[in-house]
Amino acid sequence: SSDYRVKLVEVGPRDGLQNEKRTIPLATKLELIERLAKTGLTTIEAGSFVSPKWVPQMENSSEILQHLLQKPLLSANPLTFSFLAPNLKGLNNAFTVLSQHPDSFATENTPPTKEKPGLEIAVFAAATESFSRKNLNCDIATSLSRFREVIQAAKDTHSLRVRAYISVVLGCPFEGYDVDPHRVAQIATDLLEMGADEIALGDTTGMGTAPRTKELLNCLAKAGVRNEDVAMHFHNTYGQALVNTAVALEHGIRTFDCSVGGLGGCPYSPGATGNVATEDMVYFMETLGMNTGVDLDAVVDVGDWITKEIEKDNASAVGKAVLGA
Ligand code: HMG
Ligand code: MG
Repeated sequence: SSDYRVKLVEVGPRDGLQNEKRTIPLATKLELIERLAKTGLTTIEAGSFVSPKWVPQMENSSEILQHLLQKPLLSANPLTFSFLAPNLKGLNNAFTVLSQHPDSFATENTPPTKEKPGLEIAVFAAATESFSRKNLNCDIATSLSRFREVIQAAKDTHSLRVRAYISVVLGCPFEGYDVDPHRVAQIATDLLEMGADEIALGDTTGMGTAPRTKELLNCLAKAGVRNEDVAMHFHNTYGQALVNTAVALEHGIRTFDCSVGGLGGCPYSPGATGNVATEDMVYFMETLGMNTGVDLDAVVDVGDWITKEIEKDNASAVGKAVLGA
C-alpha cells in the first residue's frame, strides 16, 4: 500500500558539501550526483544559488544545473533535482541556465521522465530572528517577503515546484530551546499560502527530541498543515535523528531528508554536524517494512566512495557496519 512508501530526499550534494572548507572539484560533485541517481533515490538536492561570499563551496551551482540539463543521467527512475535560492538574484542565476536549456526539464504540471528531470527551487526561512539574521542577513518578515517573490517567479516563469525550509524548528544555536512551535506553524502557513508546495522542517542543530518533535507536529496539524505537505530534515548532532524520524513517521509524515555518509553541517549553525545518513535512514525504514525504493548496498558504496574522496569520516553507522570497517 502507498502508506508504506517513504520519499527520501538526498541532500548530500548541497547540505552535505556546503560547509566543506576545501574546494571540491566540480567533477567530484557531478560524480556524486550521478552515483546517487543510480541507487534508486529520486530526489536530489544538487546545489544552492546563494552568495558565493557567504558559501563559497556552492559557487559552481550554475555549472551543476547546466550539466544535469545537458545530458540526462542514467537512473532507474525519473529524477528531480532541487536547488536553493534565497532571493530573486539567486533565482535569476538559475533561470539564466534554464533559458539556455528550454524543454529539457519537466515542470510541476508534467511528471519527470528519464529524458526530462523534474526541477525544484527551495527557499529557506528560519523559526528564530537571530538565526534568520545570521543565515540570511535579514529578519523573518523581510525573508518571507523575498520568498513570496521567489515563489511567484518560479511558478510564473517556469512552473517550478517550490520547497520551503524552516530552520531551527527544534532548537536554535543562539536562542536554545526557546523556539515557539506556534511561530513555526505560522511561518509554515504563510509559506503555503504564498504557493510553496512543501514545508521542510529543519532541525538544524540536531537539538530536537522525541517529545518536542511530537509537540511541533501536533501544533502544525492544529494549524491545518497537512502531513503530505511536510518533510522532516533532521541533523544528527545529538544522535536523535532516527528517534525523531520514528515519531514523525508515526504522526503520518512520509518525506524525509538525508545525506549520504552523514555528510554536512550548516555554516551558520556552529557545531552542527551532518544530516541523518541516507544509509541509516534506508536501513531503518526497511526494518519497519517501509518502502524507500533505495538499494541499501548501492548507497553504502556511494557513502564509502564520497567520504574517502573528500577525506571525511564516514558518519553512517549502517554504512560502517555493512562495510565491516
Ligand atoms: P546580503 O549580503 O544581505 O545580500 O546577503 P545583498 O542583497 O546585500 O547583496 C550583497 C552581495 O551579494 C551583492 O554583490 C549581491 O549581488 C550578491 P556585490 O554587489 O557585493 O558584488 N548576492 C548574490 N550573489 C549570488 N547569489 C545570490 C545573491 N544574493 C545577493 N543569491 C544573502 C543575503 C541571502 C544573499 C546571503 O545571506 C546568503 O547568501 N545566505 C545564504 C546562507 C546559506 O546558504 N546558508 C546555508 C543554506 S541554509 C541551510 O543549510 C539550512 C537547511 O539545510 C535546513 C536546516 O538544516 O535547517 C536548508
Ligand atoms: Mg540542513
